[in-house]
Amino acid sequence: MFQSIERRPPDPILGLSAAYKNDTNPKKVDLGVGVYKDEAGNCPVMTAVKKAEAQLLEIEDSKSYIAQAGPDLFLRHTLGLLFGEQHEVVRDKRTSVVLAPGGSGALRVAAEFITRSAPGTRVLVSDPTWNNHMPLLGSAGLKVETYPYYDYAKHSIRFDEMMSRIGEAKKGDLVLIHGCCHNPCGADLNHEQWEAVAEAALRQGFTPFIDLAYQGLGDGLEADVYGLRLLASRLPELVVASSYSKNFGVYRERTGAVSIIAQTTQAAEAVQSQVVSTAREMYSVPPTHGATLVGMILEDAALRTEWDAELTVMRDRINGLRSQLVARLKERGVAHDFSFIQQEKGMFSFLGLSPEQVKRLISEFSIYLVGSSRINVAGINQSNLDYLVDAIAAVL
Ligand code: LMR
Repeated sequence: MFQSIERRPPDPILGLSAAYKNDTNPKKVDLGVGVYKDEAGNCPVMTAVKKAEAQLLEIEDSKSYIAQAGPDLFLRHTLGLLFGEQHEVVRDKRTSVVLAPGGSGALRVAAEFITRSAPGTRVLVSDPTWNNHMPLLGSAGLKVETYPYYDYAKHSIRFDEMMSRIGEAKKGDLVLIHGCCHNPCGADLNHEQWEAVAEAALRQGFTPFIDLAYQGLGDGLEADVYGLRLLASRLPELVVASSYSKNFGVYRERTGAVSIIAQTTQAAEAVQSQVVSTAREMYSVPPTHGATLVGMILEDAALRTEWDAELTVMRDRINGLRSQLVARLKERGVAHDFSFIQQEKGMFSFLGLSPEQVKRLISEFSIYLVGSSRINVAGINQSNLDYLVDAIAAVL
């Protein structure tokens, strides 16, 4: 059965971690996988999470299965963080929400549910997009196509081209949009552009599918969901796959959610029943540790304040590093204009280097980044900044 199986190459993002780990160069720099790192280069457990875990250890009295949709506190607070507790879609009970194993699990469950209900559904994704979007959505049965998004030469969004492409989408199509902190380019839609997307969706009847993996790491918890909330107010239907990996630092706990807005409460309830039964056929019930922690933290005023403050430190650190990198490259006399990095949001930006230049950064300098020249800005710190700047100058 397995004699003819061919070996697959390492994952273009996750494979970088192993290569970095095996590199013996003491100057090595990890700008690969999108995990938050502190100044010491660690991906720490947030203090609010540690405290909630200590409480959970005391109070948890069973490891029996949880309700299929997930813990109530988690589900309620997920809707609160996404839409705001007073949002009309929450008040009118037009939302279904189900715990999923991470943001990727949420994308997959949503895609599986949609292809089961409407086989052959088309999804348009941005060009470029997260490396795993196309395989993940495509292998669930969605027909994946692209819309133009990032102009590598101008370091800005190809908005007119994007709009003319999604302006051809029809009722029954999905258009996947990064809710904030675009992965891989960091270029986000502004308020006017979100308005235009909402108008196009209303006019054409397509359903936006929002991937929200970095809420709170761009401009703030509320600011980062401006577009999402606008679409929720204007449109009859919306699909959201959200993740707590980054903003709670619970990557390995696999904590995310599928939230779907329908036109009526009755439709939302039917959707909820279909999503949980889709998940049942895939993995039965989701892991609960991360979701329980998220629910506890968001419910407890003190823990929530502490978490919010820690998230603010993370966001400010990333934004500060963006400015420092741009300033240091300029001081170093690099002629190329990198100021776009300061305008972009979240963990990622492209350096705008060729695949050969990226290869040199990895092989000559032990600086690990994705082949597209995407860097995880959070991997920069005061000890490696000058080394990184010199290396970029050298390969340019
Ligand atoms: C990334 O893009 O680096 C992260 O979302 C991690 C992953 O799973 O690819």
